Amino acid sequence: MWQAFFAAILLVLAILFLDQHSCSCNTMIFLEIMQTIQGKWVRQLGRILSQLTWISTLHTDFFTCFHGGKILWYQLFKILACQTFIEKRTSYNILRPWLGGGLLLASMDRWGKNRRLSTPAFRFEILDNFFYVFNKNADDLCQQLAKAAISNKGQFTKEIDVFPFLKKCTPYIISEAAMGIKISAQLEDSKYLRDVHRISEIVVKRFFSSNFLPDRLKQGVAQGRLEVDVNDEDLGAFKKRRAFLDLILMAVKDGVELSDVDIHHEVDTFMFEGHHTTAAAFVWFLYCMARNPEHQELVRQELDELEMITALLVAILLVLLTVLFLAYRRWECSSFVKTIDLIPGPKKRPIVGNATSLPSESDEIMQTIQGKWVKQFGRIYRSWLGFRTFVHISTPNFVEKILTSQTYIEKGKSYSILTPWLGEGLLLATGIKWKKNRRLLTPAFHFQILDNFFDVFNKNADILCDQLAKALKSECCKEIDVFPFLKKCTLDIICEAAMGIKINAQLEDTEYIRNVHRISEIVVERFFSFGHFLPDWAYRCTPKGREHFKILKQIHDFTSQVIRERKEEIALEEMQNNDEDFGKIKKRRAFLDLMLLAVKDGVELSEMEIRNEVDTFMFEGHDTTASALVWFLYCMGTNPEHQELVREELNEVFGNSASPCTIEDANKLKYLECCIKESLRLYPAVPNITRYISEDFELGGYKIPTGASLSVQIYALHRNEEYFPDPDVFKPERFQVDESIGRHAFAYVPFSAGPRNCIGQRFAMFEEKVLASAILRRFRVSYDFAKHGPSKGNAELVLRPKHGMPLNLVSIS
Ligand code: HEM
Repeated sequence: MWQAFFAAILLVLAILFLDQHSCSCNTMIFLEIMQTIQGKWVRQLGRILSQLTWISTLHTDFFTCFHGGKILWYQLFKILACQTFIEKRTSYNILRPWLGGGLLLASMDRWGKNRRLSTPAFRFEILDNFFYVFNKNADDLCQQLAKAAISNKGQFTKEIDVFPFLKKCTPYIISEAAMGIKISAQLEDSKYLRDVHRISEIVVKRFFSSNFLPDRLKQGVAQGRLEVDVNDEDLGAFKKRRAFLDLILMAVKDGVELSDVDIHHEVDTFMFEGHHTTAAAFVWFLYCMARNPEHQELVRQELDELEMITALLVAILLVLLTVLFLAYRRWECSSFVKTIDLIPGPKKRPIVGNATSLPSESDEIMQTIQGKWVKQFGRIYRSWLGFRTFVHISTPNFVEKILTSQTYIEKGKSYSILTPWLGEGLLLATGIKWKKNRRLLTPAFHFQILDNFFDVFNKNADILCDQLAKALKSECCKEIDVFPFLKKCTLDIICEAAMGIKINAQLEDTEYIRNVHRISEIVVERFFSFGHFLPDWAYRCTPKGREHFKILKQIHDFTSQVIRERKEEIALEEMQNNDEDFGKIKKRRAFLDLMLLAVKDGVELSEMEIRNEVDTFMFEGHDTTASALVWFLYCMGTNPEHQELVREELNEVFGNSASPCTIEDANKLKYLECCIKESLRLYPAVPNITRYISEDFELGGYKIPTGASLSVQIYALHRNEEYFPDPDVFKPERFQVDESIGRHAFAYVPFSAGPRNCIGQRFAMFEEKVLASAILRRFRVSYDFAKHGPSKGNAELVLRPKHGMPLNLVSIS
């Protein structure tokens, strides 16, 4: 008993002695061990050593993996690539009180999760952010070295021990990277970093001394107490800032399970691994440079070259900036800008113009441009979007001057984003090409030809009403967002009218329809983003641009295929010379047929030109009509008394029958027409159009110089109270014949006017009438104003309801 007690006391004394005195001699031993194991034995026994029975007295698992008591040294790559041997051995345990289960020491199951969590923090773009920390700290380091190199007498000494300087430098960098906190380690004395240094020393000492003691017993000795103390004291400091720590905290917010202690351990691991290692690597790099002056020279040459390139780039940048600045000044003082700035308008800022004065929401943009600024600056004013200027007009005299002109028929530059889709179709074409195609296509909208489309309108109107009725049944309430139903219906109609094919968008989900919807969305997104100002080749390099052109290819392929098939069908029918069938084709000619037949008759139209025209009809012919119809239904829903008047008229024309609407019926529906016109006045499907000014001209006493874009503000024009008293009130009577007499012809232009007006105007009005009458014959519609407030319109390519159009529909039995 006494002997055992005595032996225990001797053991503790031995530990204390070892703990205080063994470090330096063990460091020496360690170096020799390393020279032996990684040098002498490798030379003697080769690069794979097996069955060695070396067992260190203190470090039983030093650098080894045990297998059945044998020490096996595997080929390096096998060990490192192997998923099995990723667990650290017990010699790492001395780091555990400090680093816990952080990435370095984490057990297999936890390691995978933490590694995945940490990896993104080392991506190139994230590392890029740390370069300023590296550079700033490198400057401080050089300053400190320069200071140390000057002796007391003010002369340069030749020899400095650089390692302490490097050891002070690297913790600064890693503290900012790991915790996002700035510790001026090189310039000031930080308690935290002193502690980090001290704990590293203690761990090294322990490695060569009392490593074999468990942590609990180790805490009994002086350094063990310090080790535990340091760790605890600094825990709180880590929480606040960014970088790697941020990433972890954000992951925790996103639901990753990590306790506070786990977080401390990860940050501690980075602090430990990230400063000693880099300082050591760097000191040996400097040593190699010092020993190999010729290589040092090569590095210096490379740095000099880099410096030269940087200087050159900076010089080029400065020259470029100066040139840009001078060009900007010149442009600012140009007669173009001065002339435009004589027109009143909001105060512009350098470079951005008025872009930053616009609200971010697109419904508010329209209210600003066609509401607030019109009130503030009048019915002719100018605005700047970057370097692009717009002269906005909203009074009939000015509108007449521009829309009746044969000179200003070129579309504004903002239409160019539609060019990849519509090419030089009718909407975007200009000059002789436009004139030729317009002449060719106008007969397609003749009354007699439009008559043929009534069965297409009626058939799709029936499907639409059935779909709405079906949706009513499936919804628990009676409210439905009708806009998507209308869009599908108008797409079905225009597909049949333009291409002569049935795609059944209302009943099925087809790729072509999905593509048409998506391309409209992308074009609108581009319109309101920076992509608008990019040329197509640059836009193509952006992710949205890639999607844009991928979808366009699919749309164009589809249209081209339809054209080819239609061409073959026509050729076949002609060959069969079947008069009866051929007559049928003539009767139900799609716009495409008309073009193909014209080509047969000798008109020169390439396949690409035909495709552009078909795409233009597809674009112009569905969103516009859907938008017009949705606002019409909104007006009906918010004005029940007018809805009742329309219904009375419908009863007069159709009675109780379920007969389809013929062209004759449509012509009788005068009050319905007034209501459609009034809803187009309040909510014009195309709220503004622009023209490129190709020759100077004068408007309202102001000179409009060549190069400006002139914007006809249809929305603001239609709410001009001089021509429409109580402009915001829905009054269909304004469009009754006697009320319209004397009103300026250009006070109301939902389909534009003059030579470039909407070619599909009559088609659209008939379509609206058939669809509107079908819906109002089947349903009573209302809009819950108290619940939704006034519906807001987004002025995109067309004016669409910002939050859809929830309408209450009640079936009329
Ligand atoms: C309510 C429905 C519609 C409205 C409000 C409407 C409105 C307009 C407007 C304002 C323009 C002039 C655009 C500009 O100058 O920038 C236009 C042009 C055009 N619209 Fe319509 N449109 C409608 C329906 C249709 C339909 C159904 C078609 C085809 C069947 C169509 C085909 C065209 C074409 C091809 C042009 C270009 C005409 C040219 O520049 O010569 N539109 N439309």
